[in-house]
Amino acid sequence: MRIGILGLGRIGAFHAETLSGLDAVSSLVVADPFAEAAKNAAERFGAEVADSPEAVLAAGVDGVVVAAATDAHPALILAAVEAGIPVFCEKPVAKTMSEGVRVLEAVRGSAVPIQIGYNRRFDAGFVAARAAVTAGELGTLHTVRSTTLDPAPPPAAYVAASGGIFRDCSVHDFDIIRWVTGREVTEVYAVGGNRGADYIKEAGDADTTGAILTLDDGTIAVVSNSRHNARGYDVRMEIHGFTDSIAVGLEDKLPLRSVEPGVTFPAGTPHDFFMDRFAAAYRAELTAFTEVVAGTRTSPCTIEDALEAGWIAEACTLSLHEHRPVTIAEVRAS
Ligand SMILES: NC(=O)c1ccc[n+]([C@@H]2O[C@H](COP(=O)([O-])OP(=O)(O)OC[C@H]3O[C@@H](n4cnc5c(N)ncnc54)[C@H](O)[C@@H]3O)[C@@H](O)[C@H]2O)c1
Repeated sequence: MRIGILGLGRIGAFHAETLSGLDAVSSLVVADPFAEAAKNAAERFGAEVADSPEAVLAAGVDGVVVAAATDAHPALILAAVEAGIPVFCEKPVAKTMSEGVRVLEAVRGSAVPIQIGYNRRFDAGFVAARAAVTAGELGTLHTVRSTTLDPAPPPAAYVAASGGIFRDCSVHDFDIIRWVTGREVTEVYAVGGNRGADYIKEAGDADTTGAILTLDDGTIAVVSNSRHNARGYDVRMEIHGFTDSIAVGLEDKLPLRSVEPGVTFPAGTPHDFFMDRFAAAYRAELTAFTEVVAGTRTSPCTIEDALEAGWIAEACTLSLHEHRPVTIAEVRAS
């Protein structure tokens, strides 16, 4: 199949490389307003270059991958849907929830499939965790702990445009908590601090946060995030039930050092980058998109799913600023 790619920055170039290696993909057509980015992808992955997103959509593509800057997502999703072309769009759907809801309203009733890029849903560990929870292996759940710690903060310009750590980073934890447990979040309480890079504080953002989420069956989820984790890129989940407890990310490349005498685990080189930690997941995610394009599966992460994670991020942002518990119903109604 022929796939278009809109946006060839950090993640777009990585997706271009992954797509060029998939058996199902025979050709790529790419566009980026930064001509050099498109040209590089063309040279490295044998892609054709088009001079605009419209030209990509008119180039006979079977599906399109939107990896452009977040601001551009709504217009590009809508253009693809209008052209009847299945679309994969990186998270988030839009920069604000109101725009995201507008996109949802505009595509409601359309038969064109849309997949949003929450890559953890394709990681082998998280897939196994969801299977164990769904099969009832843990019994009734009581506690989930979800951790995402970045090795170093992103640049100041990225932080300023990110919408804050909950919308940019923790949103992956929020999505995967919903997906693994199959439950909805009803209420959050969030705290945050700044003990690291000054520009994060100056942007009105926190560099380290904690959030307690109450799920609709009473399970408590504790989410921990930081932009400062020198030991590496640490993504983990622990899930505890009345009959068993499991962990995702408890493997040799876990960036954590045990101080227990005689303990040598974890022994590997710590993960230091999200593209390394989730390389196989990104490949599985884009393979799934080719199946969506081929019509052999439905979207594994819909706009509705993406917006649910977004509401949790909104609630945590409000909770942090107002120093109080916030329900999802409150932010949804605002
Ligand atoms: N799921 C994940 O793990 C993950 C990881 C990284 C980034 N992302 C998301 O991917 C998106 C891109 O992030 P990035 O880090 O690659 O950013 P980036 O700034 O490196 O790249 C963005 C690219 O989009 C291009 N662009 C802007 N407007 C465009 C348009 N209208 N049409 C085509 N191209 C356009 C820019 O010229 C730039 O080359 C963001 O929305 C981000 O949230 C998701």
